[in-house]
Amino acid sequence: MLSHDVLIIGAGLAGMRAAVAVPSHLNVGVISKVHPVRSHSVAAEGGINAAINDADTWESHMYDTVKGSDWLGDQDAIEILCKSAPEDIMTLERMGALFSRDPEGRIAQRNFGGLGFPRTCYVSDRTGHALVHLLYEQLVKCEAKVYEEWYVTSLIVEEGQCCGVIALNLFTGELTTIRAKAVIMATGGYGRVYLTSTNGLINTGDGMAMAYRAGVPLQDMEFVQFHPTTLKSTGILITEGARGEGGYLFNSRGERFMRVYAPNALELASRDVVSRAEYQEILEGRGVDGCVMLDLRHLGKEKIMEKLPQIWELSITYAGVDPIEAPIPVTPGVHYSMGGIPTNVNCETPLPGLYAAGECACASVHGANRLGGNALMETIVYGRRAGEFASEYADGKTLVQVSGRTLIHEKARIATLMSVKNGEKIGVLREAIGTTMAEHFGILRTQERMDAGIEKLKKIRARIPNIGLQDHGKVFNLELVDALQLQSIIDLAETMAIGAAVRKESRGAHSRPDFPDRNDKDWMKHTLAYQTASGLRLEYKDVTITKIPPAERKY
Ligand code: FUM
Repeated sequence: MLSHDVLIIGAGLAGMRAAVAVPSHLNVGVISKVHPVRSHSVAAEGGINAAINDADTWESHMYDTVKGSDWLGDQDAIEILCKSAPEDIMTLERMGALFSRDPEGRIAQRNFGGLGFPRTCYVSDRTGHALVHLLYEQLVKCEAKVYEEWYVTSLIVEEGQCCGVIALNLFTGELTTIRAKAVIMATGGYGRVYLTSTNGLINTGDGMAMAYRAGVPLQDMEFVQFHPTTLKSTGILITEGARGEGGYLFNSRGERFMRVYAPNALELASRDVVSRAEYQEILEGRGVDGCVMLDLRHLGKEKIMEKLPQIWELSITYAGVDPIEAPIPVTPGVHYSMGGIPTNVNCETPLPGLYAAGECACASVHGANRLGGNALMETIVYGRRAGEFASEYADGKTLVQVSGRTLIHEKARIATLMSVKNGEKIGVLREAIGTTMAEHFGILRTQERMDAGIEKLKKIRARIPNIGLQDHGKVFNLELVDALQLQSIIDLAETMAIGAAVRKESRGAHSRPDFPDRNDKDWMKHTLAYQTASGLRLEYKDVTITKIPPAERKY
């Protein structure tokens, strides 16, 4: 039977950073449904935040992050993020990260939304690409065992602890038990619960759903980030770095409308504020074919080609617009999950033996709204910490002799899926969920709309047991993977929808015209969604406030 001291699920930045942090006397495995360099972290564009300039401080980074989170972030976790960030950036630099430089040769930093100081380090507009390849080199160097194109279907929980996983080897179609003393979940976000998203097609939230099915609650799932600048039909990301470098937003009347919504920060207010402003402009008839315009022309060709070459290429290829000559039509799009698997600052989840880091986790450093550039930093700081703390836990522990009942359960689940021939089509149900989420749990949410959305999701769930597969083969049966992902998606959609419908306030990305104010008295608390035999149950827990008392949030 396969076994590891530490097994990491997911090979994006958090997963690879965790693997590299495992000391060499421990045996580490990394399992991923795609090759590591195809993990979604590769698509991160604009940068990674750290207070590395002498004129900047981690305290100021912490303040911006707490304010950005609309006081739902846990300040102990935010403090660790911001304090650790400079040293973690230097570690990446020593590993060979090719950060863009300023004229003096130091690591260059750009402006990003919600920041009081330009503290976003970057590699042109391909930061994720550069860091993923950097950490992949480190992963190869540390000789971790990488199971690429293996899909984990379930955690194994025995003797009250997580002691391994059941995984489908996509090459052979065999289900296999992999035991581990500690498991780290680093599977990224759930953007594809929605129909259109900046996220890759692989971002179906499997890790969160797996933890949820294993009895771990999911935290703050109602907080979904809409990025202000995405291309309309494809959802492709146009980096915040474009506004950080000086790009403007304007409406159909040619007005720089952010002057009204955020007179100080303008286009560089936090993402929830800019996305809501755009949505409002479009709603009130000042949009351009469902979009607003992002103007980079005044930056000039040289700056665009040096700082934003990928944006230039994506705009031409996917919007037919050369940003040197014309503004880019953009719209807010689903981008990031603030919620996820709850962890403490040592990346421990409520399930002993299970750790989590990166977008699938909720430490919670982002609270109700994440600042751009903080996600990559979280993958690096908390990925490293997950590797360190899981290793400490695994060291000296013995492997649990697993009973085999989870394997039997998973074999039966897959056999059932494979047995139906002419059932419902997976794609039809995926589209129904994605459309429901977009229409009922978008940027502005009302009780009536959300309740109607929950009813639609219930009806869709009832159809899922009837799905039928066309492909009954074993080798690379991606339709089977789609079927398993569909089960994750419906579970997550419900946690997001029900958490949102119950939270009667507006905070960060959760914005309700029927409850327009933040309500600290009743709602400054984290939502925890549990899966139970009788349906979803919600509980709440306190937010950790250490240094920065709640205040009004204005940009
Ligand atoms: O706009 C961007 O480049 C995205 C960055 C982020 O989500 O942190």
